[in-house]
Amino acid sequence: MIVCLCANVTERELVETIMAGATTVKEVGRRCGAGTGCGSCKPLIREYLARARTAAVAEAPLPMAAGAAGMEAPPLTMAAGAAEQA
Ligand code: FES
Repeated sequence: MIVCLCANVTERELVETIMAGATTVKEVGRRCGAGTGCGSCKPLIREYLARARTAAVAEAPLPMAAGAAGMEAPPLTMAAGAAEQA
């Protein structure tokens, strides 16, 4: 499916451009040409970028989960001693 008629960019090319790191409409245009003509495809490009961001957030590990391996809470006695010194 063609998403940008002016630059003859397919949906596949647009997705590949975004997967390669394009994060803005301008960057997409610079990389593959989509959105650099009449501009009527820009809302569609924005939609694909938003979907990619949503997918990236959904797939990213939670910060606690990423740092949890090998990390343990300090023993309660240390925590109590630290509070007394403060
Ligand atoms: S259809 Fe994409 S710039 Fe015209």
